[in-house]
Amino acid sequence: MSSRISFDPIGVEIDCDEDENILEAAFRQGWNFVHGCREGQCTACKSFLLEGDVSLQPYSTHALSESEEAQGYTLLCRAMPDSDEVVVELLHFDPDNLRLAHPIGDGVAAVTAVEPLTGDMVRLRLQVREPEGFAYTAGQYVDLHLPGTDGQERRSYSMASPPSPDGVLELVVRRYPGGRFSGLLEDGGLAPGDTLAFTGPYGTMALKPGDRPVLLVAGGSGIGPILALLGELAAARATRPVRFFYGARRATDLPLREEIAALGAQLSDFAFVPVLSDDGDADWDGARGLVHEAACAVVGDGTLASPVVCACGPPPMIEALTAVLTGRHGVPESDIAFDKFTTAAAAVPD
Ligand code: FES
Repeated sequence: MSSRISFDPIGVEIDCDEDENILEAAFRQGWNFVHGCREGQCTACKSFLLEGDVSLQPYSTHALSESEEAQGYTLLCRAMPDSDEVVVELLHFDPDNLRLAHPIGDGVAAVTAVEPLTGDMVRLRLQVREPEGFAYTAGQYVDLHLPGTDGQERRSYSMASPPSPDGVLELVVRRYPGGRFSGLLEDGGLAPGDTLAFTGPYGTMALKPGDRPVLLVAGGSGIGPILALLGELAAARATRPVRFFYGARRATDLPLREEIAALGAQLSDFAFVPVLSDDGDADWDGARGLVHEAACAVVGDGTLASPVVCACGPPPMIEALTAVLTGRHGVPESDIAFDKFTTAAAAVPD
């Protein structure tokens, strides 16, 4: 049995099977509704239930509080329809980007390199074997299937390289203590020649085309998709101003600075500002403090007027950045694209 789901105010209708949630059903039918974690953690897919009933798969009450659920809010990535007809009001949508640019599907890739970047970050280079011509938009991510789990256990990683016709994917992976996938990257658990199944591409963070200035903000391993966006701007020899703020605790947590400088050298107007949040590193003569404050300062003082913003990092960084940009500096929400990353540990339902 399937249910009929209608979306206000865009006037779209889809079918949703009883074994899928509304977001999965939308993907299957080619719709690109705003999403992030797809596991009830990040709030990106929060919508309002106007008619009908749904049951929610496990989710975090940080993403949807009890009182919000009682008022009628829901998470599309967790909502399984209980009634034949459901009407949902989309609270966030991009009218120019409603259809999936690239179909979401399964693939296989071979590991070609595992490169340590910092004490806890690794760059994984993959060569896609299937599907032929796998395509994505810079800023998107894939789910890697944990070996031996038959696709039941997955971890999401953003592409850190811009789309290329030769099927090369680079991912920046942070190793977490006890992380089931990231643990494979230690002690040769994953080595060149191994293959990995994946599903994707997912994600709606994308850079708005045009001439407006670009503000890129990353925290920790959130550098992955930001690097892909920077690579794409560099490949296009973009002339729009680009500012990249990258936050880390210590100088040793800041990888790829030479690579970032080399990409920036291909742009007409580029500045890279690494920002340390810890007090250590006595010889550090760069910026210190919270990366969102440093990034917002160039908008506040008019150095970067009316920017489009792309940001990836932990939820507190993204929330602070968007609050200051929208609340204090008048940046419209529609000009801010972001990806809040959640770890598998954080994804354990409340
Ligand atoms: S995509 Fe639904 S809560 Fe993150």
